[in-house]
Amino acid sequence: MASRNDLTDDSFIELTGVRWLEASMKKMVSSRAQRGTFTLFALAAALSCWAGAVPAQSVAGDAIAASLTGAPGDAARGRAIVANRQVGLCLLCHTAPIAEECFQGNLAPSLAGAGSRWSEGQLRLRIVDAARLNADTIMPPYYRTDGLQRVARSFSGKTVLTAGQIEDVVAYLASLKD
Ligand code: HEC
Repeated sequence: MASRNDLTDDSFIELTGVRWLEASMKKMVSSRAQRGTFTLFALAAALSCWAGAVPAQSVAGDAIAASLTGAPGDAARGRAIVANRQVGLCLLCHTAPIAEECFQGNLAPSLAGAGSRWSEGQLRLRIVDAARLNADTIMPPYYRTDGLQRVARSFSGKTVLTAGQIEDVVAYLASLKD
């Protein structure tokens, strides 16, 4: 058993180091949680107004065939949106082949290979409004403004992502082949 005298300076530093690490991790966790709560709040707020962004007639089967902007998106920008915790927040629930993001979600299927499983049109509808395919989904509708509740005034009438951002995300997901 180690006696008091065996506690060298090194082990003291180690102990205080661990304490410090613990303390800073606690801080990190709480600010992360706060940031997460804030983002969810913003997301929920952004999701709750009444206007309908994509006309019903553009949905055919389980897809929206046409680009929302009339132009193809940019896969590199789409990757940045998916990875970003303030913009897309996709990694809250999904994992994706984005190695630099350590904390990824496990509430939803991996986005790896999404471009092999789904057409661009199918991907577009899933991002625009996943609830059209599964009424009970927890995935937020990224391009819908109707049927939502408790929207902050500053988010009223706004979609979570713009049409251009949706197209960028579609382009990125379409590039994820198995
Ligand atoms: C709050 C959790 C959550 C967030 C945030 C979220 N998703 Fe999802 N997503 C899901 C769930 C759960 C499913 C599984 C199908 C369902 O339940 O609707 C899904 C399904 C999908 C699918 C179909 C996957 C497959 O292969 O079956 C795609 C593609 C997708 N999400 C893309 C995205 C993108 C891109 C973002 C960010 C812009 C995002 N999701 C954000 C929860 C989420």
